[in-house]
Amino acid sequence: ILKALSPQDLTGKKVLVCFGPTHEYFDVARYWSNPSTGLMGACLAIAAWLRGAEVHVVHGPCSFYFPQSIIITSITSAKQMYEAMITKYQAFDIICMAAAVADFSPIPFALSDEKFKRDITGLSVPNIEFTANPDILAKLGTLKTANQKLIGFCAETRDLELHAKEKLVRKNCDLMVANYIGHCDSGFNSSTNDVAVIDKYGRYEKWPVLPKTEVAWRILDWTTHV
Ligand code: CTP
Ligand code: CA
Repeated sequence: ILKALSPQDLTGKKVLVCFGPTHEYFDVARYWSNPSTGLMGACLAIAAWLRGAEVHVVHGPCSFYFPQSIIITSITSAKQMYEAMITKYQAFDIICMAAAVADFSPIPFALSDEKFKRDITGLSVPNIEFTANPDILAKLGTLKTANQKLIGFCAETRDLELHAKEKLVRKNCDLMVANYIGHCDSGFNSSTNDVAVIDKYGRYEKWPVLPKTEVAWRILDWTTHV
């Protein structure tokens, strides 16, 4: 019923949404990650589907029920997310990178199928080293064609506009959505979001705190004019 009531302005468009955290395991029992729930990206996927798009999602560890016609690829690590997105992106008109990709991965200190045992005296703790993960959005920014629209997100604790502008240019996006993290009504683990959007033409808008469903709807409105 909701779909029948929605504008079908994305009919004929293929939309790829990437969301959720990534888990970077350093032994079978432990990983490095972040508090992303994937809700913002899931709202985007549903909104695009309601508006008539053919929707595919690539998501890290999180769980949502999607309409059957949404095609789902589940991954765990940033490296797997990178592989999935690079394999799929070419077929899509709109690509939304809402994932909270772990920027670094701990270098495993145990064989991959073994659990590191702690020192029960508590005197010695492991020293974890990290390697950098690939920047998926920046890579897509170098690969996309003129008729593909690339939507980036950025998570900031301050200076939304400044960081959004810088990341939009650096990652060659058509639209950048910047959201505050560390506020209770925005970002990770919240049903609302406090965002600003900026597009490649320099159009900038700060939105009030809104439900993520509403933010998703407005983002799709903006993609029609970038
Ligand atoms: N992103 C990505 N691959 C990464 C890191 C980030 O594709 N390895 C994407 C995110 O999904 C988001 C955008 O880049 O769409 C901005 O992410 P953000 O974490 O805000 O920026 P970073 O470039 O990682 O910089 P920093 O975390 O230092 O602010
Ligand atoms: Ca980051």
